Amino acid sequence: MKPGARARLAILISGRGSNLQAFIDACAGGVLNADICVVISNNPAAAGLERAAAAGIATCCIDHRSFASRDAFDTALAAEVSRRQADLVILAGFMRILTPAFITPFSGRLLNVHPSLLPRYPGLHTHQRALDAGDPEAGVTVHFVTLELDGGPPIIQARVPVLPGDTAQTLAARVIEKEHLIYPLAAQWHISGRLQLTDTGAYLDGEPIPATGIDYQENAH
Ligand code: GAR
Repeated sequence: MKPGARARLAILISGRGSNLQAFIDACAGGVLNADICVVISNNPAAAGLERAAAAGIATCCIDHRSFASRDAFDTALAAEVSRRQADLVILAGFMRILTPAFITPFSGRLLNVHPSLLPRYPGLHTHQRALDAGDPEAGVTVHFVTLELDGGPPIIQARVPVLPGDTAQTLAARVIEKEHLIYPLAAQWHISGRLQLTDTGAYLDGEPIPATGIDYQENAH
C-alpha cells in the first residue's frame, strides 16, 4: 500500500453486522482512511449483507454448507478476498473457525473482535460465562488472528462494569458499544502503518503491546 492511500477492507460477517455498520460509518465519516471492497458472509440470511448493499458495497455469500471440508471453504474464501485485493481483513462477527488455508495467507493483516477480555473466555457464550463467574467487569478485545482460536496477540481492550441484575443480553449491549469504538480505531492504526504483528507479538509504533492489549479507557481516546 502506498503511504496515505485509502486501504481496501474485506469484512467477513455471519449475522447482524453492527460492527460492519461501525466500519461503514467510520469510512464515510473519515475516521478510517479506507473503503470496504467487499462484505463476505458465510450465511445467506445475514442481515449485514443488506446493510452493505444499502451502502452500495459489493457483497458476496460463500455458504460454508456448500463445501465438503473447512479447508475447501477457507480456500474459496481466501480466493475471494485475494481477488478483491484487500489490504486488511476484518472479521466482524464471523462465526466460523478458520484453518491455515485462510489464516496463513493473510497473517499480519487479519483482525478479529471478540466479546470478552481475552485471555478470559475464548469461544462462545462469553457474557454468560462472565456472569456465571461473578466477574466485576467484562469487555471486548480486538486481536490479530493466528492459528490459535481467539489466541492471537491482543491489540486493544475496552472494559465495562457488570451491573447488578445484568443478563447476557444487557451485558452484550453494553459491550457492543465499545466494540464499535475500538475496532475501527485498531483498523486505522493498521492502515496508517502503526501496527505490526511479528514472531514476538503485536507492536504499536514499534513498542510491544501489553499481553492483554492497550487499555482503551486509559490510552486510546
Ligand atoms: C459481536 O459481539 C462480536 O464481538 C461477536 O459477534 C458479535 C457480532 O455482532 N464475535 C464473536 O463472538 C467472534 N467469536 P455484529 O454482527 O452485530 O457485529
